[in-house]
Amino acid sequence: MRLKDKVALITGAGSGIGRQSALLFAREGAAVVCVDVNEQAARDTAAAIPGALAVRADVSSGADCERMVAEAEKCFGRLNVLFNNAGIMHAKDDDSVSTDESVWDLTLDVNAKGVFLGCKHGIPALRRAGGGSVINTASFVARMGAATPQIAYTASKGAVLAMTRELAV
Ligand SMILES: NC(=O)c1ccc[n+]([C@@H]2O[C@H](COP(=O)([O-])OP(=O)(O)OC[C@H]3O[C@@H](n4cnc5c(N)ncnc54)[C@H](O)[C@@H]3O)[C@@H](O)[C@H]2O)c1
Repeated sequence: MRLKDKVALITGAGSGIGRQSALLFAREGAAVVCVDVNEQAARDTAAAIPGALAVRADVSSGADCERMVAEAEKCFGRLNVLFNNAGIMHAKDDDSVSTDESVWDLTLDVNAKGVFLGCKHGIPALRRAGGGSVINTASFVARMGAATPQIAYTASKGAVLAMTRELAV
């Protein structure tokens, strides 16, 4: 079991990649903190994992990110893995001419600022635990042009990739 005795926090754990990662991490022995802005979805994933904690948090809020990490440490005593997975692709995200500023702002707030805030509040907890792992979900569009116009999403994932390189250094 690759994650025996590890505590892992996963954002966007209520659906898709985040939910499947939560189930996989648990099978590998981790204690899992299932974070989602959709509280019911976080609870549904946590209910499928014995001992898992569900936390409602919006990753674009600094206060929520601080609280999700505090709740993880309060429940399990430490944090070893921080998986900044939550992300959105807005239905009205389009090319640079057609995309509303509000769509740009929301997408960058969740996808890029959300990763920054996860690290801002999660990395001190990893350090308190003596070290740990940070996983950030970008996308191939960070490296290649997308065939479907999605200017805000593409920019946000470029930011995640660049941020992750700097974090690694
Ligand atoms: N599915 C793909 O093909 C694909 C490809 C490349 C990258 N990604 C990235 O992988 C990650 C997960 O994608 P997915 O396909 O599983 O998406 P999904 O929509 O199935 O799940 C995303 C989850 O994040 C939650 N969420 C949304 N905004 C949030 C916020 N502000 N705070 C906390 N939680 C929030 C949603 O409620 C949802 O449960 C995203 O970052 C996405 O951009 C997905």
